[in-house]
Amino acid sequence: MKKIFLYIMAATLLLSVSCGNQNQETANPMENPVIETIMARRSIRAYKPEAVEREIMNQIVKCGINAPNAMNAQPWEVRIVDNPEFIEGCTKLFVERMKQDPRRAKMVEDPSFRNMFRNAPTVVFIAINDGRFSSIDCGLMAQNMMLAAKSLGIGSIALGSPVDFFQSEVAAEYYKKLDIPDTHTLALVLGFGYPNESPDAKPRDESKVRWIE
Ligand SMILES: Cc1cc2nc3c(=O)[nH]c(=O)nc-3n(C[C@H](O)[C@H](O)[C@H](O)COP(=O)(O)O)c2cc1C
Repeated sequence: MKKIFLYIMAATLLLSVSCGNQNQETANPMENPVIETIMARRSIRAYKPEAVEREIMNQIVKCGINAPNAMNAQPWEVRIVDNPEFIEGCTKLFVERMKQDPRRAKMVEDPSFRNMFRNAPTVVFIAINDGRFSSIDCGLMAQNMMLAAKSLGIGSIALGSPVDFFQSEVAAEYYKKLDIPDTHTLALVLGFGYPNESPDAKPRDESKVRWIE
């Protein structure tokens, strides 16, 4: 009888633990770490000066290349740069160019301006081929990296503005250093680093989402 009682107790305990786990994964979405990370991520434009440790960046980029992508074609080439000489060198050229345009000079004359990647000390360049879904694959990869970074306490920003600059004649020397094959075109730049700000979420328009019966 004592033995049966012990079995029942053990089974009840096991059941409650497994139900507990299930609840953790499904019951309250706001207590789910993935959802929390998604909802808490913001674009960061102020960073501490030190680059993200390379081992951690390798993990972040690994999350990127594990994103879904059409037919697993992996249409990307990814380059990571944390060399201050590279970042400061191309920023110098960028600043000269921006100063020629009074509408854009404001950005580089701001006292908080550190570099052309919205001040991020580690930069990821994503180039893609001309495949039908390559730009979608690039976006999915980028978001995987930014969410992985957020989950590790690292800030990030997606940047379209350096793309044209890097493909211009002015930046040719730096584009060459990226060693991107002719089959690929620079599509997106991501900045990473330890955040020095925690901006509020920008409003999202939920009326753009509708259920259709
Ligand atoms: C494809 C893409 C390009 C972007 N380019 C820039 C950019 O050049 N400069 C910048 O400051 N932010 C850039 N952003 C960041 C957006 O401004 C930001 O994601 C948006 O305002 C929403 O804010 P949140 O990321 O904090 O939620 C870009 C974002 C994406 C997805």
